[in-house]
Amino acid sequence: MDQFESFKAAQKQVWVRFAALEAITTPCAARLVKRAGVRSGQRVLDVACGTGVVSVTAARLGARVTGLDLTPELLERARENARIAGVEIDWHEGDVEKLPFGDAAFDVVLSEFGHIFAPRPEVAIAEMLRVLKPGGTIAFSTWPPELFVGRMFALTASYLPPPPPGVAPSPLWGDPNIVRQRLGSAVKDILFDRATMLVPALSPSHQRIASERSGGSMVRLIAELEASDPAKLERFRREYDALASEYFEDNLLRQDYLITRATKL
Ligand SMILES: C[S@@+](CC[C@H](N)C(=O)[O-])C[C@H]1O[C@@H](n2cnc3c(N)ncnc32)[C@H](O)[C@@H]1O
Repeated sequence: MDQFESFKAAQKQVWVRFAALEAITTPCAARLVKRAGVRSGQRVLDVACGTGVVSVTAARLGARVTGLDLTPELLERARENARIAGVEIDWHEGDVEKLPFGDAAFDVVLSEFGHIFAPRPEVAIAEMLRVLKPGGTIAFSTWPPELFVGRMFALTASYLPPPPPGVAPSPLWGDPNIVRQRLGSAVKDILFDRATMLVPALSPSHQRIASERSGGSMVRLIAELEASDPAKLERFRREYDALASEYFEDNLLRQDYLITRATKL
């Protein structure tokens, strides 16, 4: 297994309990689907679909949806979500860096806070564009490095061993200049938009505890430090709460993000 495959094997473990946060990404899913202009009858791919919030939203509009994710436990919940909503969706366990679909198979390719976790951005975006037909729409939601989630990722990373060489930090996907470079000459009409996710919580510490339990590198950090270095973990938690306090008002944690939309040439 090379460093990228082991990185993805680790990713598969840290997202297992993300279903607990699906209510928070659900309103963002409607925003992304609307922003991408999804219409009835279109073939839509939801990359890194998690529990299927974007997939189900698009399918309820009449689109023919395929959802793909690395983590089988989340796909189980996604199947249940589709069943409850009464929609048919084609689910695949898989990796955005190696999509199991033909060239130009989709009218729309979407990803909500998902493809950003692939270790090699250039491989992920090349795959997403390969399966999109010319004239089709690509749209995704990402976390800017200078806002809460980007800063929280950087804080978490500073307490963990460095990632393997060649693994790009996910918040770079929240920088419009970098997004432009990564989409390159394969697209036209790039549009950027800002949106806000409001996370209800009784205090910054409540929100931290939910994140510690539910996904991403926080899960790994807690697993690594809980037994080995409780004092360091305590320091991390204090720093996290101080950062979250900057964005916390009226029992809501404000998480602004970037939406990108473009048309494949
Ligand atoms: C923050 S969750 C977002 C899930 C969903 N899109 C949503 O908005 O609720 C990130 C997702 O990315 C998935 N993921 C991470 N790396 C991936 C990869 N290389 N290929 C496919 N999915 C991946 C995880 O399994 C997880 O479901």
